Amino acid sequence: MINYKTSQEIELMRQSCLLVGQTHAEIVKLIKPGITTLHLDAVAEEFIRSNGGVPSFKNYNGYPFATCISVNDAVVHGFPNNNVLKDGDLISIDIGVFKNGFHGDSAYTYGIGNISDEVKQLMRVTKESLYKGIEKAVAGNRIGDISYAIQEHTERKHGYGVVRELVGHGLGEELHEDPQVPNYGKRGSGAKLKEGMVIAIEPMINLGKKDVINDTDGWTVRTRDGKPSAHYEHDVHIRKDKADILSSFTAIEAAEKANENLCSDYY
Ligand code: MF3
Ligand code: CO
Repeated sequence: MINYKTSQEIELMRQSCLLVGQTHAEIVKLIKPGITTLHLDAVAEEFIRSNGGVPSFKNYNGYPFATCISVNDAVVHGFPNNNVLKDGDLISIDIGVFKNGFHGDSAYTYGIGNISDEVKQLMRVTKESLYKGIEKAVAGNRIGDISYAIQEHTERKHGYGVVRELVGHGLGEELHEDPQVPNYGKRGSGAKLKEGMVIAIEPMINLGKKDVINDTDGWTVRTRDGKPSAHYEHDVHIRKDKADILSSFTAIEAAEKANENLCSDYY
């Protein structure tokens, strides 16, 4: 069942999504070789709580942390840990915030230090595919139009692997609501998009093949071939002419550019 949001509810969701972006921007400042992902998680949780939110992921189906931090071959749902980050790492951070009764959920991928041209292209194309999906996220279209646009750009145009096991989703009072939003599919298929729907669009794109394996920690999803993977996620409110993007990368991108330890010349 799809939960349509009133315009008042949309404004509350915008606040939750805003706090997600601010939290990202806060921890982006800290990313550098030598720091641990557990430290980033602790700072994110403190920032969320001190701004009146609760980390959506913590205790979600038993997930033990505030953030998911997935390094290199980890696709999503990586556990923050005590390993230090190093030059050349590709790090995807996914953050969820519950505030005023609604969730915000957004992910972004950062390259630390010297990143190869092929990985820079993976980052750029994955982010581009998110916006190509968002272009199709208008009332009257169908979920499959979004899915097709993402698959077309990443898999057919660039030969990347589109993860099949994980999908985007409706968002609202629950972190995961209907409908599912796959990153692959047929134009004109799936649920019809209507005003008041809010969906999280989140391409998870592998440099190599699409296949993934589950880590023994019970959560972390990794590429089967060990190659890196990128993940960008926006929350989008469906309207008639143009999608209303509730989350924002503006502060994130500014912080990414300002952090000399991060690669920002990929887009
Ligand atoms: N953004 C992720 C998603 O949409 C949330 C991680 S799920 C959790 O699936 F269990 F880790 F919380
Ligand atoms: Co999500």
